[in-house]
Amino acid sequence: MLIRTAAAAGPFNIPLLGSWEFIKLYLCDGDMARMYERLGARYGPVVFLRVAMDTPVVAIRTNETIKASREEASKDLQLGAIGGSYLYRQMSAWHNLGLSFAEGKNWHDNRRFTINTLGKLGFTRRKIEPLVAYECAMTAQKLTEAAGQPVDSHQILPAAALNSILQLLMSRRFELDDHQVLRMRSDSVTLFSIMAKIQTYLDFAPWLNKLAGKDSVSKELDRVMDTFYEFVDQVIAEHEETFNEDEEPRDLLDAYLAARSQGRTDQDLSRANLRVLMKDLIVGGLEGPYTTLSWLLLLLAEHRDVQQRVQDELDAVVGADRTPTIEDQHACPLTLAAIDETLRYATLTPFNRHFAAAGGATLQGYHIPAGSVILVDINSLHHDPDVWGDPDVFRPDRFLGEEGARLRPPGAWLRPEPALLSGGALQSHHAVPVRGGAAAEDDAAPAGRPAAYDRRPRATRSPCNPVRPW
Ligand code: HEM
Repeated sequence: MLIRTAAAAGPFNIPLLGSWEFIKLYLCDGDMARMYERLGARYGPVVFLRVAMDTPVVAIRTNETIKASREEASKDLQLGAIGGSYLYRQMSAWHNLGLSFAEGKNWHDNRRFTINTLGKLGFTRRKIEPLVAYECAMTAQKLTEAAGQPVDSHQILPAAALNSILQLLMSRRFELDDHQVLRMRSDSVTLFSIMAKIQTYLDFAPWLNKLAGKDSVSKELDRVMDTFYEFVDQVIAEHEETFNEDEEPRDLLDAYLAARSQGRTDQDLSRANLRVLMKDLIVGGLEGPYTTLSWLLLLLAEHRDVQQRVQDELDAVVGADRTPTIEDQHACPLTLAAIDETLRYATLTPFNRHFAAAGGATLQGYHIPAGSVILVDINSLHHDPDVWGDPDVFRPDRFLGEEGARLRPPGAWLRPEPALLSGGALQSHHAVPVRGGAAAEDDAAPAGRPAAYDRRPRATRSPCNPVRPW
């Protein structure tokens, strides 16, 4: 009988130091997705590695294994915890606060409060529509002003993508070129790079942080989080001054203050929790929609035939005299399929935020030790040739069924803002790629994935090139 063990299905580990693959990755700023692609081809759907102090890391790489982890092993694995790494704890302000890096009851409470309140405030309904329509108009105006000159999407899209959700969170919006939002965007790049680190020396010797200079990763993290906290603290203070508990909450922040003033004790409603929650929502609300939009514009610029078909659809359904509405989505299957395909092809988050297995388990015959860091290799799921056939081709039609109807992708990953914002921008403008500072006039997209994305280990993957509108 063959007994498969953790050590059998992964590369060589140096005792105490961990896998040479990880050491190389961090020393050379390598591409984690490519590393797992290589290891997966060699070791199969579950890859075992170790980081320092022999901590096991398990990467799950196929749909079947994910399904099995839910069915066979979920009870034993007890996957609730986020992993407790030094940097993750720092991101939840050391006290398990906020949403993105909290765990257990606090995570559940903050999540439920946020989803319920945003639902009541109109996130999924019509309230978001005029907010996005306004951002569409502002973005289109910027593109018109560019008069065919290249536009760096990193300069105008962050605020356009963040503003609509920011108004529901705290009744604020930024001008598209506001320096504060541009600083947040540049700091969120750093934040997501730090988030990709599975482990640092601080996990074993936290005291070293006291000795480390200002370049230590933890101090860098404090610096970038302060950019968000500076803004959040100012808005919380203003809300506390103007909050009126007899009136309907203006936004999520008011709803939190209202819950606090009712003296509720069933969940943490402290100010400290509020500022971390707001920081997490701003970081998420900035990164998700903006990166999706940047990729969509880049891919449509690279695939002008698809862009033309999307524009024809928008012309037929929306026309030129009004902005797109949420209702229009039902009549725009190709536009939605282009967004679905962008999320698959570009894979915004190549890996989940890592979480820890509290218990040991057996998964498809492999032993997963307690304390393992579990990573879902979303990139490989999105590029599995057995599932997609031609995964490295950008082909929105894969999400269209007979007679052009949209097939829903696995999981409901579509949110309204990218459809409305990109629809608005593409109604009045075309996009072409810019290579080497000049617009590339050839229509042909390079085979495989576009070369120009930031391959350094980051928790999100972001395109580099600007596009030229015309
Ligand atoms: C196109 C839009 C968006 C996309 C594609 C997107 C994508 C994602 C993904 C893939 C994750 C899971 C990451 C992981 O587990 O490692 C996530 C989590 C999260 N996102 Fe988004 N997101 C979008 C919009 C937003 C918006 C508008 C907000 C803010 C209101 C937001 C806030 C968050 C937060 C707080 C989390 C952590 C949730 C938790 O721990 O339960 N996202 N997002």
